[in-house]
Amino acid sequence: MQIYINYASIDGHNLELAEFLQAQFDKTNSVSLGSCSPQTLTKLKPGNLLILVPATYGSGEIAAPGLTMYQALSKWQGQDVYFWVLGIGDQGYGDDFCQAVLTFDQALAQTGARRLQSPLLLDYELDQANEELVCQQLNHLKEVLANE
Ligand SMILES: Cc1cc2nc3c(=O)[nH]c(=O)nc-3n(C[C@H](O)[C@H](O)[C@H](O)COP(=O)(O)O)c2cc1C
Repeated sequence: MQIYINYASIDGHNLELAEFLQAQFDKTNSVSLGSCSPQTLTKLKPGNLLILVPATYGSGEIAAPGLTMYQALSKWQGQDVYFWVLGIGDQGYGDDFCQAVLTFDQALAQTGARRLQSPLLLDYELDQANEELVCQQLNHLKEVLANE
């Protein structure tokens, strides 16, 4: 399967998460890792998987490196592309916790792309507990894909 992992990271936590995700796929998959880019949308074909890993800054806003891709989503048709959005934020921001993850999740769903799994919101950093959570969810996602 062709998988695109795109991150929007400023201080590196979400980049680290994206790299961790990449390492969880074996060689039967082709995994392309990069910063969020509208060009990724032009490459995606039906049956491909897009994993987005956006950081949240400001008051619940998408981190700057993710903005052009977010804007491009309004003109993109995602039929039969699978997606999952997850990210690291900070629960100290209350209702704005990981809002960028939720914003991207909603926007992707509106393109007709197929959400494979609910968005995953992670607090603070990629510690062992968060790594385990990510692996659990990723295993579930792989099972869902295998049954498609
Ligand atoms: C100015 C500022 C605003 C932030 N606003 C939010 C926010 O609204 N929601 C949230 O969950 N985290 C917020 N954060 C925390 C970052 O999302 C968190 O530090 C995250 O790890 C940054 O990701 P990155 O290292 O990939 O850039 C904010 C951090 C800063 C410095």
